[in-house]
Amino acid sequence: MTSQLQVKVWRGRGDGSYQTFDVPRRDAQSVLDVVTYIQRRLDPTLAYRFACRVGMCGSCAMTVNGRPRWTCRTHVSKVAPDGRLEIAPLAHLPIVRDLVTDMREFFDKGARAMARFQPTRTRGDDVARIEPASPARRAIDAAIECIGCGVCYAACDVVAWNPDYLGPAALNRAWTLVNDARDGARRERLAAVAGDAGCHACHTHQSCSELCPMHLAPTASISGLKRATAIATLRGEL
Ligand code: SF4
Ligand code: SF4
Ligand code: FES
Repeated sequence: MTSQLQVKVWRGRGDGSYQTFDVPRRDAQSVLDVVTYIQRRLDPTLAYRFACRVGMCGSCAMTVNGRPRWTCRTHVSKVAPDGRLEIAPLAHLPIVRDLVTDMREFFDKGARAMARFQPTRTRGDDVARIEPASPARRAIDAAIECIGCGVCYAACDVVAWNPDYLGPAALNRAWTLVNDARDGARRERLAAVAGDAGCHACHTHQSCSELCPMHLAPTASISGLKRATAIATLRGEL
C-alpha cells in the first residue's frame, strides 16, 4: 500500500477543472475522510456536503473515479487500490461549487411524481395497520429505504438524454406509495408517472440498481409502475 494518495478534486463550477492534492493514506479511510482532510488541512475553501457520516442522510454522494457513490461509506482501499482518486460532483445536476450540486431538480421531480404520502385518515382515526408479514407490507418494504442520495439519478443515462425524465429515485418512491393501501392518491400518482417523462422512458439498463448504496432496485419499481399504468390505462382510469 502506498503511503500517499494522489487525489484530483473538481474545483469551481461547470467550467472548472481538477486540482491535485497529496493526502496521507490511512487504514479504514473513507473517500469522505479524504475530502475532509483536504478541506481541513490543505484548502479550507473546498466546498462539499455531508452530515451523518454513517450512511443515513444521503448528502455525501459524489463521483468517485467515474462512478457515483456515497462517500462516507466508500472505502478508499476498494475504489483506489493504486492510490489514485478522482473526485467530482454528482453528474446530471448543476454544480454550485466544487463538490456541491444543486439538488433542487432532483427533489422537484419527487414532487412531480407525487412521491409524498397522501393520508386518508385524520389524527382522530385509529392508526392504519398493515401486518408486517403480509405481502402488502413486503411490497412496500422492498423499496422504502431510499435515503435520497441521488446516486441512481447521476447513474441514469436517460436523465442525461431527457432532462425532464423523473428519474429512478422519484419513480421508486412513487411505486412504494402505489403499493401502500393507506395512501389515498393512487390514481393521481399513476397519472403523474405515466407521461413521456415518466416510467415508460426508462430503458431498464439497471445502472441505478447496480449502484444504489442501499441495495434497492429502482428498475424493478419502475417495471411495477409500467405494469400498473398500463393496466390502469386499459381500465380507462388514466
Ligand atoms: S434502469 Fe431506468 S431509471 Fe435505472 S438507470 Fe436505467 S434508464 Fe435510468
Ligand atoms: S434509490 Fe438508492 S441510489 Fe437512488 S436516491 Fe434512493 S438510496 Fe440513493
Ligand atoms: S454523510 Fe450521510 S450518507 Fe454519507
